[in-house]
Amino acid sequence: MTETSPVVAGLRSIHRIITRGLSVSIEKCDGYLGKKGMASRETVGFSKYAATLKWIMHSHHLTEDEIVFPYFKDRVEAPYTRLGDDHQAMTRILVKLDNCLPGVSSGGIAELREVLVELDMLWGPHKNIEEECFTTEKLQPVMRIQEQVDLAKKFADHGSRNSGPAPLAVPFMFYNLDAENREDFMRMFPWIVKKVLVPVVWREKWKPISPFLLV
Ligand SMILES: [Fe+2]
Ligand SMILES: [Fe+2]
Repeated sequence: MTETSPVVAGLRSIHRIITRGLSVSIEKCDGYLGKKGMASRETVGFSKYAATLKWIMHSHHLTEDEIVFPYFKDRVEAPYTRLGDDHQAMTRILVKLDNCLPGVSSGGIAELREVLVELDMLWGPHKNIEEECFTTEKLQPVMRIQEQVDLAKKFADHGSRNSGPAPLAVPFMFYNLDAENREDFMRMFPWIVKKVLVPVVWREKWKPISPFLLV
């Protein structure tokens, strides 16, 4: 069996994180709407969770537009124009999402839900195309393993520069993954992030989003 390419593993992890972030956000909206409003203690956390989802998705698309797609364009076949257009369409929806967030505490859940569903409808097919085009089998013949390791690192560094406040973004990424996938994903993070920053130094900062995470 061929070992999963680190580039493919990184891509799939971030896709899993965003997919769970979207489905949890939509489920929560449904719950809040059913209850006719949100428990006031949850409003801050929920807005922060949805805002972090927005940052992570924005950052992932930037990484693909600026590094991943230019790198693979001449090496791996994929509908790059369609994928780039999807990113632009999703960016427009992310702006709407951002505009909805201040209204969350005053009951603007239905508007937020509508935007999240619109985003989810584009996101699902989009990430499926990427996962079909960028597989270990397709990358292996065009890249040496060291090149893949370096590129995966480059993706992660680029992503972390655009994903908003790290005390929210990093726990959001770790704990939107289940335990098994989290262990693999965390391997590329330095010890200090995993053992000191997330669990101790940043703990109070991300506590409000913890009810939405797999902690
Ligand atoms: Fe994409
Ligand atoms: Fe992607």
